[in-house]
Amino acid sequence: MTYLLSGASVFFCGGFSDRDINVVSLADRSESVVNVDASKYFVFPGFVDVHVHFREPGFSYKETIASGSAAAARGGFAAVCTMPNLSPVPDCIENLNLQLDLIKRDARINVLPFGSITRGQCGTELSDIEALAHYVCGFSDDGRGVDNTALMREAMLRAKSVGKIISAHCEDGRQIKDSPEAEWKEIERDIKLADETGCAFHVCHISTKESVALIRDAKKSGVDITCETAPHYLTLADVDCLDHGRFKMNPPIRTAKDRDALLEGIVDGTIDMIATDHAPHSADEKSRGFAGSLNGVVGLETSFPVLYTELVKKGIIPLTRLVELMSVNPALRFDIENDGFTVFDLSEEYTVDPSEFLTMGRSTPFEGRKVFGRCIATVVGGKTVYEDNKFLQKYKSFN
Ligand code: DOR
Repeated sequence: MTYLLSGASVFFCGGFSDRDINVVSLADRSESVVNVDASKYFVFPGFVDVHVHFREPGFSYKETIASGSAAAARGGFAAVCTMPNLSPVPDCIENLNLQLDLIKRDARINVLPFGSITRGQCGTELSDIEALAHYVCGFSDDGRGVDNTALMREAMLRAKSVGKIISAHCEDGRQIKDSPEAEWKEIERDIKLADETGCAFHVCHISTKESVALIRDAKKSGVDITCETAPHYLTLADVDCLDHGRFKMNPPIRTAKDRDALLEGIVDGTIDMIATDHAPHSADEKSRGFAGSLNGVVGLETSFPVLYTELVKKGIIPLTRLVELMSVNPALRFDIENDGFTVFDLSEEYTVDPSEFLTMGRSTPFEGRKVFGRCIATVVGGKTVYEDNKFLQKYKSFN
């Protein structure tokens, strides 16, 4: 079956215009064609998330490439970049190949791995940067910072020489764990290094007001820097967090002042993109209260609905800016060809229910939240990779 979506609001050349779009059903293989009045549907370029954890190889009890990419497709994503805290760490071609084979076999959308900056992400010796460069979207030691300044300088020089970006989890291990300083002091150092080396530099999941100010100034002075933040830092503050593992992640959710500074950064363009830091763990690993649970929450299936509801519907940014933040800008900065689109119904309110997720992780600070924006279908490379079951049932019954 093919859905003929007529009169959908399609994102095109920076704005929306009414167009007709065809989507081939994933589940219904019949030759039939159904006309759908699509006036309430919006079509966006596939979202691009430059920061996810798909746990394979090494930790498939938390998430697999199959489950992670199915969740991404349900969230409207056409491409994701996976972080290298895996086992083995993709620090050489041999290790990376294990991951690439799994991606080739199981990925439903475009899955692009990061190579690690340092061997085993240990922060003492650089990975095979030149050998990996052709096969990775960039280099990152996500989960920890690279505290050795000389090593980070060398990493930037080598990444620049192979034309790759460094995406840094800025956290100075010598500062108090989870303190704002641990984040912004390492950003401050890395801005100097990026300026000195000319390396394309991207800062992962910024969460503090100082980070926003530093990056704003660095951009003004011409440093080749971009940054991301995540939906939870934009929509929650420390006072909202309960003693539950679903509020535990690194960096932590900070004060209302930090959240407001991040929102300013989103509005004025200091923050270039929103990434989920989708970081699934098992139920057991997340059920030990705030203090005892592992860091990380899932985000692929809630990112757009939460941001649309909290940022766009509340008038903080227009819908076109959200598309820039979730699709246009990450694809441009990480040189990702975006060959997908996603169809959303923005009219219906519903409650976030983790039991409906396709990710193996269930821990989200947005559980129980009322949101607008349900993904109807996602198409990547001309192939439908996700289709909402209710939507399918509605149109199937007319056959
Ligand atoms: O919350 C987090 N979880 N932050 C990180 O930096 C790593 C991630 C993970 O791998 O679980």
